[in-house]
Amino acid sequence: MPLAAMQPTLRRPEAREFMPADYFRRAEKEEIFPGARPLEVDLGCGDGSFLIAMAKHFPDRDFLGVERLLGRVRKVSKKASRESLENLRLLRLESRYTVEWLLPPACVSRLHLLCPDPWPKARHHRRRLFQPPFLDAVRQVLVPGGEFLFMTDHPEYFEWAEDIMTRYQGFEILPWSEGDFFYPKTDFQLQWEAEGKSMHRLRLRLPG
Ligand SMILES: C[S@@+](CC[C@H](N)C(=O)[O-])C[C@H]1O[C@@H](n2cnc3c(N)ncnc32)[C@H](O)[C@@H]1O
Repeated sequence: MPLAAMQPTLRRPEAREFMPADYFRRAEKEEIFPGARPLEVDLGCGDGSFLIAMAKHFPDRDFLGVERLLGRVRKVSKKASRESLENLRLLRLESRYTVEWLLPPACVSRLHLLCPDPWPKARHHRRRLFQPPFLDAVRQVLVPGGEFLFMTDHPEYFEWAEDIMTRYQGFEILPWSEGDFFYPKTDFQLQWEAEGKSMHRLRLRLPG
């Protein structure tokens, strides 16, 4: 077999996609977005409706959506290109890996985790993202005074998070109710609310 045929082929990134040159080292902030504008990251961004509304509303901030499903990444990336949103990029990667190993330290002003998979079965609870080692990693990537916003429709997952926060040191808990500030509803939030479910919110701030 010719050597060239044995080379792995790299997928061509979409226009608004951030494909790191090296997945095994922390990225530089400049690689994600040049300049010193605040960066917000949405973990598991799904159909991207929240991110697109945020990017339009805050043209002076940058937004990175993280999503493991390629089809969703492509769709959101195309929408961002169509709408000429230069401040929005997509990363196709696993959320925990992104926070623990890829994002540069002290670079994120707000990290959003909205309607994540609740993993309701007890034997799957260890797959939940909201756990102390993950919170340690969140603290590493936030800028001083940066925030981690967690929202779920799942009461038991929310209790789990609140219970962790009774013991976890290192964040200040800020009040957060719907309508406190501009915060578009996510696609899943709209679906759950249409079914009569309510949202539970936790807003954590890294001391500045
Ligand atoms: C329940 S949906 C919520 C989507 C969006 N945040 C919303 O509220 O509409 C969860 C999304 O996270 C993605 N996802 C789940 N686990 C993930 C992981 N470990 N890393 C990256 N994306 C993940 C799924 O593919 C899906 O798009």
